Amino acid sequence: MSLSSPRILLIDSYDSFTYNLAALCLKAIPNTHIHIIKNDQLSIQQLTSILPHFSFVVVGPGPGSPEVPEDIGVISQLWKVPEHSLVPVFGVCLGCRHGQISQIHHNGAGLFKGVGETHAVRYHSLHVVLKDNGDIEPLAWADDGTENGRVVMAIKHRNRPFWAVQYHPESTRTSEGGLQVLQNFWRATSQPWSNGTHSLVGPSWPQSTSMKPSQYDVTSVMTSVLHLPNLPVADMCELLGAKDESLPFVLLESAAQPGRFSIIGCVDHDSLKLSYTVGDDQVRLSRGAKHWPEPLGHDDVWSWLTAFMLPRKAIGGLSNVPFWGGLVGYLGYELGLETLQVLPIHRKVVLQTRHPDLNMVFVERSIVVDSHFGDVYIQTLKSNDNQWMEETARRLTLASTSLSATPPHEPPCALFSQPPVIHLPHELVYKSRIAKAKEYLFSGESYELCLTAHTRITVHPRRIPTSSSWELYKRLHRCNPAPYSGFLRLHPSILLSSSPERFLSFTRPPNSRCQLRPIKGTIRKAPGITREVAEQLLAGSKKEVAENLMIVDLIRHDLHSVVGERVSVKQFCRVEEYETVWQMVSVIEGAAPASSLDVDSQDVLGWEVLKRSLPPGSMTGAPKKRSVEILQTLEDNNRSIYSGVFGYLDAGGGGDWSVVIRSCFKYDDLSRGGAVDFPDPKVETWTVGAGGAITALSDPDAEWDEMIAKLQSVLRTFEAAAG
Ligand SMILES: *[C@@H]1O[C@H](CO)[C@@H](O)[C@H](O)[C@H]1NC(C)=O
Ligand SMILES: *[C@@H]1O[C@H](CO)[C@@H](O)[C@H](O)[C@H]1NC(C)=O
Repeated sequence: MSLSSPRILLIDSYDSFTYNLAALCLKAIPNTHIHIIKNDQLSIQQLTSILPHFSFVVVGPGPGSPEVPEDIGVISQLWKVPEHSLVPVFGVCLGCRHGQISQIHHNGAGLFKGVGETHAVRYHSLHVVLKDNGDIEPLAWADDGTENGRVVMAIKHRNRPFWAVQYHPESTRTSEGGLQVLQNFWRATSQPWSNGTHSLVGPSWPQSTSMKPSQYDVTSVMTSVLHLPNLPVADMCELLGAKDESLPFVLLESAAQPGRFSIIGCVDHDSLKLSYTVGDDQVRLSRGAKHWPEPLGHDDVWSWLTAFMLPRKAIGGLSNVPFWGGLVGYLGYELGLETLQVLPIHRKVVLQTRHPDLNMVFVERSIVVDSHFGDVYIQTLKSNDNQWMEETARRLTLASTSLSATPPHEPPCALFSQPPVIHLPHELVYKSRIAKAKEYLFSGESYELCLTAHTRITVHPRRIPTSSSWELYKRLHRCNPAPYSGFLRLHPSILLSSSPERFLSFTRPPNSRCQLRPIKGTIRKAPGITREVAEQLLAGSKKEVAENLMIVDLIRHDLHSVVGERVSVKQFCRVEEYETVWQMVSVIEGAAPASSLDVDSQDVLGWEVLKRSLPPGSMTGAPKKRSVEILQTLEDNNRSIYSGVFGYLDAGGGGDWSVVIRSCFKYDDLSRGGAVDFPDPKVETWTVGAGGAITALSDPDAEWDEMIAKLQSVLRTFEAAAG
């Protein structure tokens, strides 16, 4: 690093787009060093003393109001920095245009020299009104018509080195007005760098992850391949113990396009299980009847899991098979809050049992089914496991040959002795929360809030004390086939999912690539809803595109924060066809930096992305931290497993995680003889979460309907299961 290359100080106000802005600066001014600090990290005295060492300051956007001192921190005091210490300041977004694109009119000079017709993304709730002939000179405008008239989009101070834009130059959908404007701004000369400054603001972004290099023995994967195109995944599961409710069982199933691989974890009582609850100082492990805690010490659960996985690294499996063995399970919503350092709020425990926030099993034996080619991969990480491999191959082959003789499925019998009782969220309360959410949006606290609620379903199982979760999963699978389905029986938690949304997948190192596929915008298929109509209703809708765009920009930020520069939007707001719905999907990818990483950091890159990007942005809104804090005050319950993620961390270093939506879960503690939510053992409770993104354009009635429509996909299954 040269001491004379430009240095930028980026002041972050806890926003979810900061790293996108950093990436834009890096593109505009190559070889620059960007140091990112929080707006409450340094005192104004410290800031004043280091400012001369920077070429300029970028003030990032953020939630809240410029009038609230906690929201803007040290930024308000930049005005008071004496002339001789001041360097140029470039501000982004002072404060309803949440995620909408406007044409920006400018004078083509100064900041806008060489800038063509500009269409820019706006997220602000507030805007400034300038005095005539004041100190502030307007440079660009947007025409908001009758709503606000001409709104100032860029300004410059007449006497001091302050510039600012009101739109988001870093958004993926801003054309012109981004790169060129920053390059125009880049005019100040650089100042020598000093060690003292370095110690105050830390190293520059992007950084190489500094994991301890280490060497471990590796495990070899043993694989055998069968071609069994006719054997249903469910039949394989039943051969492997899915019907035994006392056994742990995990299935990640691609039950529809665009899914391809289904993964069955062949686990039993002796498999190693891990669980963790937010706030605990230990991870709980168990194998059969044996339970023991492992203290976290100074680490968080993520570092603990990294340390758990590194010595279990596997090699030698087939590269086209995404899973060789590893951890399978779920990570709850509150686990993501812990990483965001959002403090839990006190809630009354109303007949609600706490699920672990992390619940996983280490899968050593697995079966992976490739639905495109009908190939079945039997794999083990255990040494000397030939006997199990041969026995399993024999049983699957036999099942496949005897299959053709018997009819495929006998009609399902009723699982419940009475119709289920469904406790929906209270409609008026839910709508009043939408109104409250909109107040937060209009006051600039958030750009988008994903409001959700729990619905509880009580059923009377025919088999007491517990109904067959596997039979219920098979019905869900039939009612609502989904590309990222899942059945996780990890006592005390049982999760049945028909998720359409992949959250994050990452390929094995080296050259690991991460992909996120957020969905925002869903409509149910119905007569007359052709692809053209769906595209018109989704991609043609300002509101739907705005919701999606905000999440795309938020995810770019999360990815940039881990991988550095190499982040790109591969697909923006494309309408994809699913079994029962049309959905608008964007795809964002990130790649490991070409050099800078040692082998072990490559191994944990995807895991690091997962940690930094939970909870899923499509379930929170943006900016993430402030939004989840607000949502905690609007929602009654902990979200628990709902709106967390489930999937796997492969022993070879890959991973694939889906969002827990269109899912239901229940608490089933075997050691206490069944469900404990209700004192009556003849009754059990399932929970389903659903919700929607509230933006400035949301209509409460339509939001309620959307929430109910999402619930229906799961509720229908319960109704059908009552016979
Ligand atoms: C800056 O710090 C580095 C490493 O701590 C040290 O080697 C170097 O001498 C210091 N430079 C100055 C000018 O103090
Ligand atoms: C809700 O989650 C928080 C952690 O975010 C936890 O401290 C609290 O005990 C949970 N409350 C209930 C009722 O489960």
